Amino acid sequence: MATASPAKTTTAAPTRAAAPAVDVSLPSRREFLYYIWGASIVLLLGQSTAGLVWFMLPRFKEGTFGGTFKFDPARLPEAPDIAPASEPSGRFHVSYVNEEIVVLYAVCTHLGCLPKWVDTNHRFECPCHGSKYQLDGTYIEGPAPRGLDRFVSTISFSDGTSATMDSAGNPIPLGTHTVEDIVEISINTGSKILLPPHP
Ligand code: FES
Repeated sequence: MATASPAKTTTAAPTRAAAPAVDVSLPSRREFLYYIWGASIVLLLGQSTAGLVWFMLPRFKEGTFGGTFKFDPARLPEAPDIAPASEPSGRFHVSYVNEEIVVLYAVCTHLGCLPKWVDTNHRFECPCHGSKYQLDGTYIEGPAPRGLDRFVSTISFSDGTSATMDSAGNPIPLGTHTVEDIVEISINTGSKILLPPHP
């Protein structure tokens, strides 16, 4: 007697779900130009902001040439009409002359050499072409066109008053004060006063 063979069962292979269609179409020419235009505006605004911030920041730090120096009065000459006090990093000399204080730019007004204070001759002498200047920077002789330039300075006194160099760059008179009354000399090496040419 024949026996029935078991029926073959077949299972269908799983079919992959269809991936959703992604639109990868490239931007149109018009969209592309919009993007470029937007990026240009952002870049321009960024540059303007950076420029404004840079402009508003102080260009020179205090105590560096081009900025303001707080000069300690303890460094002033001990008496009037002797060698000036010098600050090479600020390129200035502080002269104490006839109860007045004047801050001189240490650079020769001829071609920019550095005149030295010569104690024996009691004057500044330029090593390059021989210009000479008095202790207060007044021109004496040589090819320099004028006396030494001055830096705008303000002297603060212990009684709370102060005195500032005038617009002509004249030495600052101490008036009723003495050098012992000075608490600070503020020297702006970014603000120079040029004397008129000598006759
Ligand atoms: S640079 Fe000073 S005299 Fe010429």
